[in-house]
Amino acid sequence: MSLMDVALRRGFFYPSSEIYGGSAGFYDFGHLGVLLKRKFEDTWRDYFLALDPNFVEIDAATIMPEAVFEASGHLKSFNDPLTECVECHVRHKADLLLEEKGVEAEGLTAEEMSEALQEKEIRCPRCGGELSEVRWFNMMFHLSLGAAEANEKAYLRPETAQGCYVSFKRMFEVLRNQIPMGLAILGRAYRNEISPRQGFYRLRELNQAELQIFFDPEHLDEHPCYDSVKDQIMRIYAVKDREKGEIREIPLREVEVPKFYGYHMAKVQDFYLKVLKVPREKFRFRELSEEERAFYNKIHWDMEIYTDVLGGFKEAGGIHYRGDHDLSGHEKGSKKKMEVNIQGRKFVPHVLELSFGVDRNLLMLLDLAYTEEEERIVLKFPSVVAPYTVAVFPLVSKDGLPEFAYGIYLELRREFDVFFDEKGSIGKRYRRQDEIGTPFCVTVDYDSLEDGTVTLRDRDTMNQVRVHKDTLLSAIKAPDV
Ligand code: GLY
Repeated sequence: MSLMDVALRRGFFYPSSEIYGGSAGFYDFGHLGVLLKRKFEDTWRDYFLALDPNFVEIDAATIMPEAVFEASGHLKSFNDPLTECVECHVRHKADLLLEEKGVEAEGLTAEEMSEALQEKEIRCPRCGGELSEVRWFNMMFHLSLGAAEANEKAYLRPETAQGCYVSFKRMFEVLRNQIPMGLAILGRAYRNEISPRQGFYRLRELNQAELQIFFDPEHLDEHPCYDSVKDQIMRIYAVKDREKGEIREIPLREVEVPKFYGYHMAKVQDFYLKVLKVPREKFRFRELSEEERAFYNKIHWDMEIYTDVLGGFKEAGGIHYRGDHDLSGHEKGSKKKMEVNIQGRKFVPHVLELSFGVDRNLLMLLDLAYTEEEERIVLKFPSVVAPYTVAVFPLVSKDGLPEFAYGIYLELRREFDVFFDEKGSIGKRYRRQDEIGTPFCVTVDYDSLEDGTVTLRDRDTMNQVRVHKDTLLSAIKAPDV
């Protein structure tokens, strides 16, 4: 069995509109997927919104008028290189075809990609037919609003970020004119991927968790808490490291980034290593070169995680220094002043964006958790993201045990997501919980009725201890099984 089998079989996620054959680039979440996603997002909120009291979460419409994307530059530049098979007319992403043949395609023009396709004699992967010239294809989904003939053009947002930029002016006033200010959105974004072949990794409808930090560009090389992180050892893969192909471990102060940027890099690395417990060797920051960066980025390092399912290090998110691109663009587009006045100095704030692809993070967490042992499959999730924290079982389904167990279930539910299961052998019930990553199982037996104690089993060690039901909550919160 593979990770993807477990994800499908247990209901983490599965192809959308599956009964009609599925729709490429769209997935639905089952109940476990919803719980996993919710836990990831709550963990993300708890962590990143705590970085500064002036960081808050907002929500914004996912459909936005054309003017927003004219101003943001997405109409002109949010493009992927497309080539079409002249025989079967299937469309392919030209850079992917090239990269599969070892050609680094980032930064190439359409003409250069057409030439490279010819040079490498690349043909349609589906039917072997000849491929057309490469042209740019805009990846936004467009819509028309209303039924009138002259209806208004709009787009599904390709990144949550734009919702924060168009809210900047109002939220700056609401939050009493303070900089830095952070606006986070956790929500959907949409990209009309040409060939979403990498299944769950590259989606057409995706979930993002993004924090836009608006700050004073004169303070780019400072952060009040920089000293607390400057000696932190960072795992980095800079542009200049690529030749050797080696990841370096160096203190943050030696990473060539401004301090405001560096502080947030350190915090993001901690989020992965300390909160999500990603093994150190499976995490790195990869610097993107000027040609590789999105059109709006001045400094760009991706967080990358090594997984088997994706066959190596792949992007989980990025830290983007977007300069004044966004607010100046919207100032021009909307003709509304985005300038702020801080102690008599007027300027357009710059943006540092912490951007995370939620779906791909979930896939990566699943991969890292997936463990095949001799007699069982276990998802060794860190407790903060495990869909269920605890499962409660009556040993047998009679003699008052289910009722006693149900009382415990209701009690624990006040604090945790809890699974209740009274069917099947106890061994099978444990296996089922191992396979969906539940850290603890509580079993009620005949002794429980006598003395109020229950068995508490740890997922990873399979150790069992006897605890009184009244101390279960604290035992689960601070386990020593
Ligand atoms: N907001 C950055 C991105 O969507 O990649």
